[in-house]
Amino acid sequence: MRIDIITVLPELLKSPFEASILKRAIEKGLVSVHLHNLRDYSKGNYNQVDDYQFGGGAGMVLMIEPIDKCITNLQKQREYDEIIYMTPDGVPLNQSTANTLSLKGNIMILCGHYKGVDQRVRDTFITKEISIGDYVLSGGELAAAVLSDAIIRLLPGVLNDETSALTDTFQDNLLAPPVYTRPSEYKGMEVPSVLLSGNFPEIEKWREEQALKRTQVLRPDLLE
Ligand code: ADE
Repeated sequence: MRIDIITVLPELLKSPFEASILKRAIEKGLVSVHLHNLRDYSKGNYNQVDDYQFGGGAGMVLMIEPIDKCITNLQKQREYDEIIYMTPDGVPLNQSTANTLSLKGNIMILCGHYKGVDQRVRDTFITKEISIGDYVLSGGELAAAVLSDAIIRLLPGVLNDETSALTDTFQDNLLAPPVYTRPSEYKGMEVPSVLLSGNFPEIEKWREEQALKRTQVLRPDLLE
């Protein structure tokens, strides 16, 4: 898989891909992530990428021309399955969207800034608009990092334990059951005895019950 991210702040996006699981996925060749600085596609000495909004009002808007140049340049080199715009007024990200996107070959992600992008960018190029939650970040970069992480960890070979993404919270619309590790007793706090029993059908049953119970209490909306 290949992910191209278009941003005015590439520095902000470097470190998430230089550590831990994402770094290893890139080193293994399972994914490549390419950052594109929108200013490289701007005109003039000031590298202008934004301007005042027509009709007045506070806040700058990312201009269509540099974005057009950048996207068109990338599209000349390969076909993209999705061109995603990160924006708080997009469709809320969930596990199902991450699963779907993890099956794609090439995706482009455009990070918004300031008041957003010229609407004509959204009308012309964007195939999906995604929000990572009902709050406003100072730009789409951290949201793009969140989306990329959610996708990349699902790629085959990225996680060591191949089954582990399947048992994540949300994979079956349930929260994950509680987990424990050694010691089996700590300051009088014990691990549920079924987990020490070696009886795997019983353990599986207990985990399903716990997942359901947790979801009913903490996230009943997932069961609707
Ligand atoms: N850009 C700013 N806020 C955002 C959010 N909540 N989700 C996606 N992109 C954003």
